[in-house]
Amino acid sequence: MPKLVIINRAGDETTLEAPAGRTLMEVIRDAGFDEMMALCGGCCSCATCHVHVDPAFGDKLPALTGDESDLLDSSDHRDATSRLSCQITLTDALDGLRVTLAEED
Ligand code: FES
Repeated sequence: MPKLVIINRAGDETTLEAPAGRTLMEVIRDAGFDEMMALCGGCCSCATCHVHVDPAFGDKLPALTGDESDLLDSSDHRDATSRLSCQITLTDALDGLRVTLAEED
């Protein structure tokens, strides 16, 4: 079961254990992080699940799709570590992943 470290907008860290097979967005939302709005429910159409992912895990993440990249372009806070958390399905390879919730647009 992958262990995750979630850092909220205030900089507070929370460690969660999450079953593989769920998306990162679902796990963060269901853990009660109010900042994780996820308005579209994971359909890759809102960008309110924007997170910054530890670059050390970059090669373990699913590839960025064109739709995801286009949506991230709508954020003023996009950087090289930006991903939409609904597009990341958790696997055991992501054990120890650190994720920072992106600033609100
Ligand atoms: S929840 Fe809407 S794009 Fe991820």
